[in-house]
Amino acid sequence: MAALTRSTRAGARPPVVGEGIAIASLWRELWDAHESWGGYPGTRDPAVYAQLARRLDDEARARAGRVILGGHLHLVASLGYEPCGQVEGWLEQTGAGVGELRTCEVRSLIVAATARRLGAGRLLLDALQEAVRSHFRGAPCVMAAEVLEPNPAHDFYARVGFAPVAWSAHVGAAEVAAMPPQMRGFTARPAIPDDALALAHLEAILATRRRAAGDLRFAPAPRIDVVLLGTVAARVAEEASSPSADHATVVVTDRAGVVRGAASVHVQTLEPPFLPVRRGLVGRFAFDPAGSVPALVGPLLALGARIAVERGAARVEFLDLTGPGTDLHDAVLGAGARPWSRVVTRPA
Ligand SMILES: CC(C)(COP(=O)(O)OP(=O)(O)OC[C@H]1O[C@@H](n2cnc3c(N)ncnc32)[C@H](O)[C@@H]1OP(=O)(O)O)[C@@H](O)C(=O)NCCC(=O)NCCS
Repeated sequence: MAALTRSTRAGARPPVVGEGIAIASLWRELWDAHESWGGYPGTRDPAVYAQLARRLDDEARARAGRVILGGHLHLVASLGYEPCGQVEGWLEQTGAGVGELRTCEVRSLIVAATARRLGAGRLLLDALQEAVRSHFRGAPCVMAAEVLEPNPAHDFYARVGFAPVAWSAHVGAAEVAAMPPQMRGFTARPAIPDDALALAHLEAILATRRRAAGDLRFAPAPRIDVVLLGTVAARVAEEASSPSADHATVVVTDRAGVVRGAASVHVQTLEPPFLPVRRGLVGRFAFDPAGSVPALVGPLLALGARIAVERGAARVEFLDLTGPGTDLHDAVLGAGARPWSRVVTRPA
């Protein structure tokens, strides 16, 4: 950063009106890179990028020189005054008191190929962190970025203080959906409101396990009381009443019908400049500590993938996995999935 600041008078600042075209071309460079690493395809349609440029200018106008607009942060790095890089942040704050959690999801970080290794990437992340700290008045927050496995940026993130806390793997959804949802006496099924107590316990186990692994995107386990059980039961009832909805909770039960594990399924359509592809996300895997993860995970993967296929997704990603060499990671790769990305975090 020092080298960049001294030699080129670069800085990080909010975008200004009139820079939409330059920023949209940075996005284009990023999506092309993503595609080359096996990411979802971006559009080649110039009209989409022209529309994006207009939207960026409208946002810059509304931003009026501020980094934060609603929960969205946007910064550009400039050499002289020309944008040579950009980063976005999305803020989230949930819970209160002991369950309070603040995250800043780092997205679309790119430094133009012609301006790399001059400190702009580090400068953008540091400026983002400063804006987050000032927004939350110094209260703890975690910055998180998802990095695809083939992306050479892993070393960059390590150099600037981010560490991996969660992994993901992906596969053609139909491939895993063809696996039986019943294996070795364990059966997966959609959750029902009567599962609320089991789900609340499993979510608490998941939060404790993720936080122990350094994943502070998960809030501390909440107290299990009637209010929490009512919330969980209502969420599951709503999912069950609209079987084509994009969210579902699935559980795995033993021979006696006791719930031993759970996962959540989410299907979404990618937004421009991506092509409008449907993707399935299966995550928040939680297991009874007395159960065997390899035995419990198979039926959850199969049912999660089947729901994703039914909702139109060709590909499914399995999220929030523990690191390579652990039971959960191995079981997911054993079902045919390939490593896809990792989430790296840094306290802000
Ligand atoms: C990743 C990226 C943003 C880095 O930007 P940059 O401006 O080149 O990075 P910086 O110059 O600030 O580098 C900061 C540190 O990381 C190191 N670094 C940067 N890129 C690196 C790489 N590819 N491999 C190893 N180290 C790297 C630098 O040497 C520097 O280390 P130091 O401060 O200890 O000397 C840029 O390479 C890029 O835009 N890549 C394509 C898009 C992308 O991958 N975005 C991230 C999506 S998750």
